[in-house]
Amino acid sequence: MTDIAGKTALVTGGGSGIGRGLALALAAERASVVVADILLDKAQAVAEEIRSQGGSAIALACDVCERDSIKQMKADANAAYGPVSLLFANAGATSFERLTDMSEADVDWIIQVNLMGVTYCLQTFLPDMIAAREGHVMATASMAGMLPAWIPMHAPYSGAKMGIIGLMLNLSLELAEHNIGSTVYCPGGVATGMKDNNERYRPQRFGGPGPGPVKVPEGFFMEAKTTFLPPEQIAPMVLRGVRNNRAIVFDHSDQRKIFQETYLNLVMQAFDDALDYEQSMGMTP
Ligand SMILES: NC(=O)c1ccc[n+]([C@@H]2O[C@H](COP(=O)([O-])OP(=O)(O)OC[C@H]3O[C@@H](n4cnc5c(N)ncnc54)[C@H](O)[C@@H]3O)[C@@H](O)[C@H]2O)c1
Repeated sequence: MTDIAGKTALVTGGGSGIGRGLALALAAERASVVVADILLDKAQAVAEEIRSQGGSAIALACDVCERDSIKQMKADANAAYGPVSLLFANAGATSFERLTDMSEADVDWIIQVNLMGVTYCLQTFLPDMIAAREGHVMATASMAGMLPAWIPMHAPYSGAKMGIIGLMLNLSLELAEHNIGSTVYCPGGVATGMKDNNERYRPQRFGGPGPGPVKVPEGFFMEAKTTFLPPEQIAPMVLRGVRNNRAIVFDHSDQRKIFQETYLNLVMQAFDDALDYEQSMGMTP
């Protein structure tokens, strides 16, 4: 069991959507919350909301694409609350575009913010948890990483999110000996500001910030693929997974069917091909 009450939790991307939902749910469970976001005004609004409800929170500016920015965030969080024992590496950005239509900066941004952002945060915050022999790390991936052949025009994003899943599941092997838990959360459709605000949080070095909505190709309807749940509904579900030390958290049980129908078919086809080849070559598996 991972305790939440009385602990210090840090949420990246805490100024909006899932991160905001997590920050509020953590405060409701009596954690002290560091709300970190590249858009400081958004983080400040969430921290203020928590304090107005009697909770404890501070807001910090951080760009998770930059190691130095994360190190500064850690120093500021430590100065306010001491060591962080619950990390929610949640910040991310999306894209719906063919890989060949994306600029180099588009691709670099999507990989950097989603995959490297999580990796940098883990590297920065884990040493304190290891020293204390307690803590839990949660990273927000996506069903687009778990089912990378599900949503089209999502290649770098799906790759980065699948990378987070691999990173977290492998990392859990080395964290267990330090009494540190890990959870990878794969949202399958949450009603957030991402589609409308995506370009606003593109860092300058990747050509941002832009005016707002993510570019979506004509005729592309993601809505047809899933239902979008409110963050207030899914945040307690994620915290339940953290509390119970679950390696993976999903939020749409109906997506089991898509997993079975698509991804497993691809994998089984590849195993069948390998078996065919082994048999045709007289190799014994
Ligand atoms: N909403 C969904 O359906 C869905 C599905 C799958 C995965 N996700 C993942 O959930 C996470 C949260 O997204 P959301 O849907 O709540 O969107 P959102 O736009 O509401 O929130 C994202 C937050 O991350 C912040 N952010 C972006 N880049 C940052 C950076 N470089 N450094 C620090 N903060 C940064 C933004 O300012 C914003 O506050 C993301 O990792 C996203 O990929 C969301």
